[in-house]
Amino acid sequence: MSLPHAPRINPSILSADFVNMQADLARIAAADFAHVDVMDNHFVPNLTFGLQMVERVQATSPIPLDVHLMIDDPDRWAPGYAELGAASVTFHLEAAADPVALARRLRDIGARAGIALKPGTAGEELYDMLGEFDQVLVMTVEPGFGGQSFMPETMPKLRGLVAEARRRGTDAWFQVDGGISDDTIAQAAAAGADTFVAGSAVYGADNIEAAIEGLRDRARAASLEL
Ligand code: DX5
Ligand code: ZN
Repeated sequence: MSLPHAPRINPSILSADFVNMQADLARIAAADFAHVDVMDNHFVPNLTFGLQMVERVQATSPIPLDVHLMIDDPDRWAPGYAELGAASVTFHLEAAADPVALARRLRDIGARAGIALKPGTAGEELYDMLGEFDQVLVMTVEPGFGGQSFMPETMPKLRGLVAEARRRGTDAWFQVDGGISDDTIAQAAAAGADTFVAGSAVYGADNIEAAIEGLRDRARAASLEL
């Protein structure tokens, strides 16, 4: 499978209509990946869906899945999402017992391995493991809910991680998630993000396709200035 080029726009189906998921997946066919927020009511104070639902989303989505696990014990649960065919599976550094072993397992199964950091987690905690991951997700809100405000104070961490990854010669993708909109996407792109999750900014738009294109254009313009 050839992978979509940057800038990648990944709409979050957390902002979709859960009982009209098939239609709401069809509406994001022009995007790069469908971002699937799995929450367990323990790691974050919210509950969404698990393996059974994501298996149906995988079978129904016109675009590949980018699964974001906001759950405890990803060491146990994450491989199942790779096995059902998700293109990428991202788990939280704060939750994993053995992040390197888990990343290797995800890659062995055939998924891209992703690691996510909450706003309060230092980027340096990841530096020595950077080569183990295909993508790094810098959370730009506290994980748990859609529709929150982008936290610009997370941008120095993103810049540091991007610089460190380049220094180590890795080609990981850098993703931001939370509060990404027409007003904030340029800041994240200018800090080195190449993959953008957007929930309310996509599903809240009157014209979803135009919203995706608008985000992509703004991200492209800001990254060209780098
Ligand atoms: C938040 C989730 C996000 C959420 C983003 O914990 O990880 O993916 O859907 O929603 P917006 O784009 O509305 O901030
Ligand atoms: Zn997410």
